[in-house]
Amino acid sequence: MNPEIKTILYSEEDLSKAVSELGNKLTSDYEGRELVLVAVLKGSVLFFADLMRCIDLPCTIDFMAASSYGSSTVSSGKLNIKKDISCDIKGKDVLIVEDILDTGTTLSYLKDYLAQREPASVKLCTLFDKPARRKKPITADYSCFTIDDQFIVGYGLDYDEKFRNLPYVGILDPGYCK
Ligand code: IMP
Ligand code: MG
Repeated sequence: MNPEIKTILYSEEDLSKAVSELGNKLTSDYEGRELVLVAVLKGSVLFFADLMRCIDLPCTIDFMAASSYGSSTVSSGKLNIKKDISCDIKGKDVLIVEDILDTGTTLSYLKDYLAQREPASVKLCTLFDKPARRKKPITADYSCFTIDDQFIVGYGLDYDEKFRNLPYVGILDPGYCK
């Protein structure tokens, strides 16, 4: 185990089982639809790559990246779109795939942003949900794990851009986070 990790919360096996179950559910829910999977960079990349392999349907993929403007504008929920999708989603069923739903700022903004392009539907899929920290009235349509108010890293999730490559998800040693 990485020495900076205090506790492993979800092992590779836990993650793989949850992602596979979610893939099965999406396969049945989106059967016959025109599914577009949209990954929110960077945190969702490992989850996204594993999840799409568990969806047994024709689908297309695209990527978005967004960042908050800064503390003064965070409360307005406005985000800076750093990378937009390049495909036309009009009439299609969009599933936004995110690593973690925290305050809800990111996903509520991205959902409204993509909904303006007249897709048939826009739904939200997150690996982790931290409902205790929510500031926006938003719920995930699909979520694998609900967690307490604690900061996690690994399997795509970072602290200061590090630990994304860990194959498991854990809690950092408090001595490491300053
Ligand atoms: P939201 O807009 O507040 O919902 O924030 C979502 C983003 O915050 C996620 O995409 C992550 O990048 C980041 N984030 C929130 N909680 C954690 C965590 O526990 N570990 C790592 N990143 C987190
Ligand atoms: Mg993120």
